[in-house]
Amino acid sequence: MNIVFIGAPGSGKGTQSREFIEKYKFIQLSTGDLLRSAISAGTELGKEAKAFMDAGKLVPDDIMVNIVKGFLRDNRGKSVIFDGFPRTVSQAKSLQQVLAEQELAIDRVFYFKINPQILIKRLTGRRVCTNCGEIYHIETKPSKKELTCDVCGGSVVHRSDDKEDVITERLAQFENNTGPTIEYYRSTNLLVEIDGSLTPELVFKQIQNVLTL
Ligand code: AP5
Repeated sequence: MNIVFIGAPGSGKGTQSREFIEKYKFIQLSTGDLLRSAISAGTELGKEAKAFMDAGKLVPDDIMVNIVKGFLRDNRGKSVIFDGFPRTVSQAKSLQQVLAEQELAIDRVFYFKINPQILIKRLTGRRVCTNCGEIYHIETKPSKKELTCDVCGGSVVHRSDDKEDVITERLAQFENNTGPTIEYYRSTNLLVEIDGSLTPELVFKQIQNVLTL
């Protein structure tokens, strides 16, 4: 099974992906995490992607599609949660084509619908573990020991693109590029809207209810 989590920055895609890979046999393809790893490793891809990410812009489609192709080649036969990909109609069409070449398809697209006003607070307060990717929030889900991950003891940091001016640009990119992608999936009848403003447990339940139909 292949599912897509689509939604604005901070709508909870990463949080839910972690829940689903823990409880079900999914693997997560987070294009944001792959790009951040490339930046940390100082690869050519990382160098190219950094300027776009720091500015809150989307990394060009051809780069993103190549990353996803490589990931799918290395993970044939596994059930994938696509977290943060596709974000443009062109990426969505490429994904369909790449999956079709492996006789696969997208089964459901979950759109995390949420009021943008909530997102600024979620993102400015978010902290993430640089080692295992665990996601925290300074108010709603703080790590027990400041700056240290409860799960693996790694460093917990504030993402460099979680500053208010960059968040504003990321939200604009979402509206302009991902908005049409959502409409594209609506027209294919794959889209399931869920309320992303509820608690993580209730968001999880909404997705689980659809997957176990
Ligand atoms: P990426 O890393 O994918 O960032 P994003 O899509 O902006 O999403 P976020 O990771 O910010 O949010 P999320 O929805 O996962 O929320 P989370 O669960 O962490 O992309 C970063 C950049 O990479 C892009 O800007 C772009 O430059 C580039 N990029 C990536 N993919 C690309 C692509 N396909 N094409 C082109 N460029 C691409 O939750 C956020 C906070 O809220 C946390 O603190 C969490 O604890 C809290 N929270 C979560 N759920 C709840 C809840 N239900 N109730 C209360 N709090 C909650």
